[in-house]
Amino acid sequence: MTLSPYEVEGFYDRALENGKHRDIVGGRWDETGRVQMQILRDMGLRPDDVLLDIGAGSLRLGCKAIEYLEPGHYWATDASRALMLRGREVELVDPSRLSEAQLIEDKTFEFVGVSDDVTHAICFAVFTHLPITHLSRALKNLRRAFPKLRQFAFTVFLAPDRDALGKPYRQKDGVVTHRARAPYHFLAEDVLATAQEAGWEISADPMMLPRGQALYLGRISHKDES
Ligand SMILES: C[S@@+](CC[C@H](N)C(=O)[O-])C[C@H]1O[C@@H](n2cnc3c(N)ncnc32)[C@H](O)[C@@H]1O
Repeated sequence: MTLSPYEVEGFYDRALENGKHRDIVGGRWDETGRVQMQILRDMGLRPDDVLLDIGAGSLRLGCKAIEYLEPGHYWATDASRALMLRGREVELVDPSRLSEAQLIEDKTFEFVGVSDDVTHAICFAVFTHLPITHLSRALKNLRRAFPKLRQFAFTVFLAPDRDALGKPYRQKDGVVTHRARAPYHFLAEDVLATAQEAGWEISADPMMLPRGQALYLGRISHKDES
């Protein structure tokens, strides 16, 4: 069973052949890149911090973050490395500011090969395409893999209550989301419980985002450590 259109056989090859690297991450290129930069600046990201962009796509954020960060301080993962490489090739003002080695194919949120110097991470419009078990895995693996990680921002779609959970739900921006197929919605209480169980303290941020996504900001919880 495919969880999202991204898992359909040949999806990335066809899109890249047809020059659709912007469309398949959702379009709204400049606006969505700027929103993500704003989230990161609000989190206190500085040029000497090290950013991990999870599910980075064709570098809609990357093309801005790489300009802001010191060279070598941007890392990205995605289910398709070819998509990230296309972004590097055609969307960066100066592709030499980003080593290809910092673009890592990873569809299971293992983060193998990413620098353990990462201080900030963002996963924008990715868990919206996956069941909540993927959020859980990502949170657990982030906690394990990155000892210097200070903050993590991620987005999901929410259903307003348990009654709405099992039905198609129209988000503010018009996207219709579902419990059991993409785009997925979750209950806020399930997002909180998933984060807590994975050792994170998270809070919802009221920032308005494209397509009606909800933004969460998280820090690793040290409550149970003595
Ligand atoms: C809507 S796009 C968002 C891309 C990027 N975060 C942005 O905002 O520009 C969703 C991205 O998630 C990636 N993706 C889908 N399933 C994934 C998985 N299991 N692991 C990692 N990335 C995945 C897709 O390849 C795509 O680039």
